[in-house]
Amino acid sequence: MKILMVCLGNICRSPLAEGILRKIITNHQLNWTVDSAGTGDWHVGHAPDKRSIAVAGKNGIDISTLRGRQFSTNDFKTFDHILVMDSENYANVIRLASNETEKQKVELLLNYVNKGKNETVPDPYWDDSLFSPVYDLIYQACEHFVAFHQPQN
Ligand code: 4NP
Repeated sequence: MKILMVCLGNICRSPLAEGILRKIITNHQLNWTVDSAGTGDWHVGHAPDKRSIAVAGKNGIDISTLRGRQFSTNDFKTFDHILVMDSENYANVIRLASNETEKQKVELLLNYVNKGKNETVPDPYWDDSLFSPVYDLIYQACEHFVAFHQPQN
């Protein structure tokens, strides 16, 4: 299975989500592909925000080598699940979908925690105090995602 994490800049939330999900699937010995992208192009080629690198590092996850890239319509073909952080990301990605199959791949990440509630992973870019709670929210959602989608045996 191939999963793409999406936020606005691809430097704060989605690289964290990429690192967290990759760690969880490794723990579960799942051979899934995980990537991340931003709907905006300001941070293409940039490393994640230092504060995301720090909170990930504190939890044993190295995201320092990730680099920003912009979401592209090709991602609808590559990925099975496109997990977005907030309703703005959702609208931006859905606008680029060319059919219903592509639209159905797009889900708000936190709907894996509280189904149908359409909750937001807050953008921590302007508020240092949000990085730690954002890490916890994303971690919880990724655990739910894996529990929901991992093969049963
Ligand atoms: P992210 O946070 O979407 O979680 O990566 C942001 C990072 C940068 C900007 C906005 C949000 N920016 O406007 O540059």
